[in-house]
Amino acid sequence: MPRMSQPIGLVPALTLTEAAALVADHYGLTVRASELPSERDQNLLLLANDGRRFVLKIANEQETRAVLEAECDVMRHLAHTGTCPTVVRTQDGHELTRIDGCWVRLITALEGTPLGAVPLHTDTLRRDIGRALGRLDLALASFDRPSLHRAFHWNLALAQEVVDAHVHLVTDTVLRESISRVSAHHLATIVPLLPSLRRSVIHGDANDYNILVDHASQQVTGILDFGDMVESHTVNDLAIAMAYVALGSDDPLSAAAQVAAGYHAELPLRDDEIGALFGLMCMRLCVSACLAAKQQAERPDVAYLGISQAPIMQTLPALAAMHPRLAHYILRDACGLPAVPQSERVVSWLRAQQSTFAPLLGHDLRSTPVAPLDFSAGSALIDSDPQRNAPTELDARIARVLAEHDARIGVGGYDEARLIYHWPNEPQGVEPRTIHIGLDVSAKPGTPLFAPLDGVVHGVENADGYHDYGPVIVLRHETTDEPPVEFFTLYGHLSVDSLHGRAVGQPIARGTEFARIGEAPTNGHWWAHVHIQVIVDMLDVPCNVNGASRASQRRVWTSLCPDPNLLLGIPGGRFARHDDAATISASRVAHVGRNVRVSYGTEALNIVRGAGQYLYNADGHRFVDAYNNVAHVGHSHPRVVRAVSEQLSVLNTNTRYLQEQLTQYAEALVATLPDPLRVCFFTASGSEANELALRLARTYTGARDLIVMDHAYHGHTTTLIDISPYKHNGPGGTGAPDWVHTSPIPDVYRNRAFTGAPGPWFASQVGSVIDRLRDSGRTLCGYIAETCPSVGGQIMLPDGFLHDVYARVRDVGGVCVADEVQTGFGRIGTHFWAFEQQGVTPDIVVLGKPMANGYPMGAVITTREIADRFDNGMEYFSTFGGSTAACVAALTTLQVTLDEGLQQHALVVGNNLRDALRRLGDDQEIVGDVRGSGLFLGVELVRDRSTRAPAAVEASFVVSRMRARGVLAGTDGPHHNVIKLRGPMCLSMNDAEQIVNALAEALRELPRPLE
Ligand SMILES: Cc1ncc(COP(=O)(O)O)c(C=O)c1O
Repeated sequence: MPRMSQPIGLVPALTLTEAAALVADHYGLTVRASELPSERDQNLLLLANDGRRFVLKIANEQETRAVLEAECDVMRHLAHTGTCPTVVRTQDGHELTRIDGCWVRLITALEGTPLGAVPLHTDTLRRDIGRALGRLDLALASFDRPSLHRAFHWNLALAQEVVDAHVHLVTDTVLRESISRVSAHHLATIVPLLPSLRRSVIHGDANDYNILVDHASQQVTGILDFGDMVESHTVNDLAIAMAYVALGSDDPLSAAAQVAAGYHAELPLRDDEIGALFGLMCMRLCVSACLAAKQQAERPDVAYLGISQAPIMQTLPALAAMHPRLAHYILRDACGLPAVPQSERVVSWLRAQQSTFAPLLGHDLRSTPVAPLDFSAGSALIDSDPQRNAPTELDARIARVLAEHDARIGVGGYDEARLIYHWPNEPQGVEPRTIHIGLDVSAKPGTPLFAPLDGVVHGVENADGYHDYGPVIVLRHETTDEPPVEFFTLYGHLSVDSLHGRAVGQPIARGTEFARIGEAPTNGHWWAHVHIQVIVDMLDVPCNVNGASRASQRRVWTSLCPDPNLLLGIPGGRFARHDDAATISASRVAHVGRNVRVSYGTEALNIVRGAGQYLYNADGHRFVDAYNNVAHVGHSHPRVVRAVSEQLSVLNTNTRYLQEQLTQYAEALVATLPDPLRVCFFTASGSEANELALRLARTYTGARDLIVMDHAYHGHTTTLIDISPYKHNGPGGTGAPDWVHTSPIPDVYRNRAFTGAPGPWFASQVGSVIDRLRDSGRTLCGYIAETCPSVGGQIMLPDGFLHDVYARVRDVGGVCVADEVQTGFGRIGTHFWAFEQQGVTPDIVVLGKPMANGYPMGAVITTREIADRFDNGMEYFSTFGGSTAACVAALTTLQVTLDEGLQQHALVVGNNLRDALRRLGDDQEIVGDVRGSGLFLGVELVRDRSTRAPAAVEASFVVSRMRARGVLAGTDGPHHNVIKLRGPMCLSMNDAEQIVNALAEALRELPRPLE
């Protein structure tokens, strides 16, 4: 962020050589000097011969000696905090010395990067800024100097005067109107609070060049420049820091609130200080804008002055548009306080009065049968396709639930995350409102509603937009205790005639029929129900208050709108409830093996729904799934879901009976495979399939020894760990047994040893292994490889590799096994099976993951000859392998893959994505290689393109930042530095664009270098 204003007074201008000479003369140090940016003084960074770093500060001629002495004093006072520079004395013992008419000081340089130069500002960092500042202000509470009790235009205590004097000079109308709005609020509500606020000496300018941070750990390393130090309201220090943190942020108040939270943890804020904070923070931005306007008016020739205001022009109008009380509640919540102070009193009063309320529907819902209606993000009651949530469809589904519960009334939950308020094509990057902050009572249209308690009509409206409230009435109430607290109740989705004769100010007595339940389309196009909401503060909205909030503001809005069940008294057990992430995590720790890992560590995702290429978490937030290849044709594909559930409702049994589902699938599957791959065995997993493949190979050859590819993974069973170098050579592994022989992975990016064409060269490495085996008198059972090694780093095999390997293996009587668990069914786009791309036909093919779109299913397909040799008297039976429902799942998945042309789709979208990633990588030194085909892609990150040193920490950082932008990817490869992209085959061009943008942003946020 550029500086907010231009210098006042003349900036001293020593040359670098003069500065070095001065330091040598007065401090006895030999240094190299370079210029640092500064507004009023001249600051030079000095590198001493012994490696120490200093800053030489030559004060502006207008600075008074007393203020400069106070600065030296404060640095001594704050030495214990470890985040402030210390003053170095001249050889004759002075901290401050007058040289050639200027005041000169030498201070130590702190480690860290200015906040403004760091591209990633996480909440961790924002909180730490607050903490560091809180500690600083705590220390400053015992520091004072008369010179700091000064009239100074950056003193936020004088903000109203500065703004009043200069606001007329602001030329941009939007900005000027925002300033006027903020300043009017400041005058009316903050100025009266000022006399009671705590005062102390404050730093006064915690701007993003005065705060130094460590990018990697997202911690503050130093706070600099006490030149604006002033005696003021203590909270101003925080307000100033918050203003800078808010600038340029997508969500300025949330960003600033984190700073307040950190500060409050170190130096607890008082209620009046929190009350003033939002106004003061906005006012700081107004002061900056006004002073810049003044300077620009004085120097219209300097274009820079106008440009420097760009971040303020973006942020201040956004802040000014917020309701200050809502902002106040958000800040209170961030500090761990109840968001809305009066909410608790309303809640206690409602609780105490509950027995006196008239029943809303005319009969007591405490005893009436009530069915839970679960509209949460993970509920089957709703569809992720909004078209399928039309009121008639919802009414029909609700009717089924009511019938199951033998109830005529259904209740939809309060504080529930719902998808029904947002649409798949919503703009990215804007958090949707998903949390329902009312309660829904479903009953027949026309059902009369009776006022639960005395009230006065506060608002009446027909909000007839699609998915709005339709006819809505708000009643105003007061608690009967002293002093009374006002609150409101809202009733939405009413019948149109409910509004007839209703007028603001009309009293409605407890128990009076005042409205009826509406129906679609006039009720806002919803199922028939009334939405009831209790509101403690209407935030000056006449009637149509939000009925859903953003998940990130959940606590704030549930404090603003407490549980309406306080009015109805429906027993808690009648509502649908789900475990939250913390409960699930705790239960996992207690009941699930620890090495059953979750992705994203402490930020683990609680995923509750999948639809197509998207996954949704319990907050109703959507993620592009660029990672899971199991949901081949898309998560919960409706055709697969329908087919499987219909089959499950009829029959699901094993292979010991004749069933057309099994044979139809076997026929369809072998039709996609070349001759002589004609015989299928079905299993319940990829591991089971690889185990079976090994048995087939061993029975056929009578040999045991196997050649595997380095870094390969073939499954989790004991034998498969033996043949998976990725596992047996990884953490907890015990190496390969003597019958497993490892050949190099043909990774042409990382393994540069090859000469000539890489395919034949890497095949010759397998040949060498075969030769060694033969020389030591061992016989080869076979060769197994993933056709495109995935955990090995998303590798595409070089041309001719398998062709040569298979020939060599077959030469010595071995069989060739292709593990297509990751790559089959059109994923690589160019071919349906990845081995086809190599121009070979394996003897045994192993399938799994994507085969049945997530229904457990694996398969081994082989030749009649091998299958017959395996039929040696021992029965092959897998209880779940090839079950009726599994075959239906697999057959439907295959049909959808073919019907929807997903192979071609993967080719077009995937190759587009790959090319866009390559373009992105071209000018990013860290992107070493972008490879793959179709929707099987890898982006390899390196610390240095020439050495190709793997950038693993960076890759995991990038993946976590991509997730923050709504994209799920993974890392893989022997060095964990390859970003793996291989989502469902229905990923669209838009998703591809989002993936590229997310990666670009994540790369931009990378600290350099990362350790
Ligand atoms: C190449 C390969 N083969 C086999 C398997 C094992 O499959 P499953 O986890 O279904 O047992 C996997 C699983 O990731 C795999 O990637």
